[in-house]
Amino acid sequence: MIGAFDRLALPLSRLLDAETAHGLTVRALKYAPLPHAAADDVQLAVRAFGLNFPNPVGMAAGFDKHGEVPDALLRLGFGFVEVGTVTPLPQEGNPRPRIFRLPGDEGVINRLGFNSAGADTVLPRLAARANEGGIVGVNIGANKDAPDRLADYVRLIEIFAPVASYFTVNVSSPNTPGLRALQQGRVFDDLLARVMEARARMSREAGTTPVLIKIAPDVTLNELDDIVGAARRHRVDGMIVGNTTVTRASTLRDREAMEPGGLSGKPLFTLSTRMLAETYVRAEGAFALVGAGGVNSGAAALAKFRAGACLIQLYSALIFRGLSLVTEIKQTLVETLRGEGLAGLDDLVGADAAAMTAEEWPD
Ligand SMILES: Cc1cc2nc3c(=O)[nH]c(=O)nc-3n(C[C@H](O)[C@H](O)[C@H](O)COP(=O)(O)O)c2cc1C
Repeated sequence: MIGAFDRLALPLSRLLDAETAHGLTVRALKYAPLPHAAADDVQLAVRAFGLNFPNPVGMAAGFDKHGEVPDALLRLGFGFVEVGTVTPLPQEGNPRPRIFRLPGDEGVINRLGFNSAGADTVLPRLAARANEGGIVGVNIGANKDAPDRLADYVRLIEIFAPVASYFTVNVSSPNTPGLRALQQGRVFDDLLARVMEARARMSREAGTTPVLIKIAPDVTLNELDDIVGAARRHRVDGMIVGNTTVTRASTLRDREAMEPGGLSGKPLFTLSTRMLAETYVRAEGAFALVGAGGVNSGAAALAKFRAGACLIQLYSALIFRGLSLVTEIKQTLVETLRGEGLAGLDDLVGADAAAMTAEEWPD
């Protein structure tokens, strides 16, 4: 049934501009009667930052920016869904066209710039499904014109704490000028202090909501030292490595490869997996890692676990390979655990991290 959805949706969506196709997919998920994916094998269960995930394959932020279809995605077999990025006030984002498919490279470039329906629209949607169960994280970001960007993150934690399974503090979108600077030095330290303080304040009414930081794959290793150091000092619960890249490998073939924006999908895999391993060796188990960037097969997913992730997220590959990719990845994971005689995914996490960080830096 999921395969049938893909056979219909994939060729159709190729005829449309990328953003229109995305809008139609979200509508289809909202209104179409969807099948329940098969129950997950117990070996796929993961416990991370105090939450029990039925499987480790998550929908990355950016697909369901406005919290319209988290339950449809959970039903289709994702182990968790990250809604957002949500900003406090609604904002349009950049002018269209602003999403570009690179079919030859299996990549995507986007410069959406936090188009968000805003917290007032997203909150009631998540509140209405709060008793449905399932892990639905909320990815938060500052408004472009906010006079105090750190205050935007604090405000969003106050607003969404009662309905978010976890928070992702997005300081790594390349499409809001100056946002990535929040990953650096004193500002990053201040941001973490204020975010963790807001989370603690909200814990009386909402419980302790895990806080993850989503970083860019483009930070230098010196910057990564500081980021991990600050995250450890402030006891954040996890890190997502990472967001899209502003770099462009010379091997890219598509005509639109030089469009400005963040590149994701297959061309991001090597860089983001190396950065994941670099983060893992620095974190020394102090917090959990979510691997994102170019996961397009069971083998790519396995590489993320071996680099140090205990959970993975994907988005771009769904555009080229369809939703059945989620089932395929889960199957590969189960077969690998059985084949290697391992009890669970924990036994794979970080197995190759040290070796990966010793390799030459990827081009
Ligand atoms: C069209 C598009 C929109 C995105 N929007 C967001 C976003 O709003 N917030 C965010 O943190 N990441 C966003 N991302 C980044 C993804 O969450 C993910 O980190 C990145 O694409 C790497 O994963 P992938 O290669 O599997 O796509 C977006 C990605 C794409 C392709």
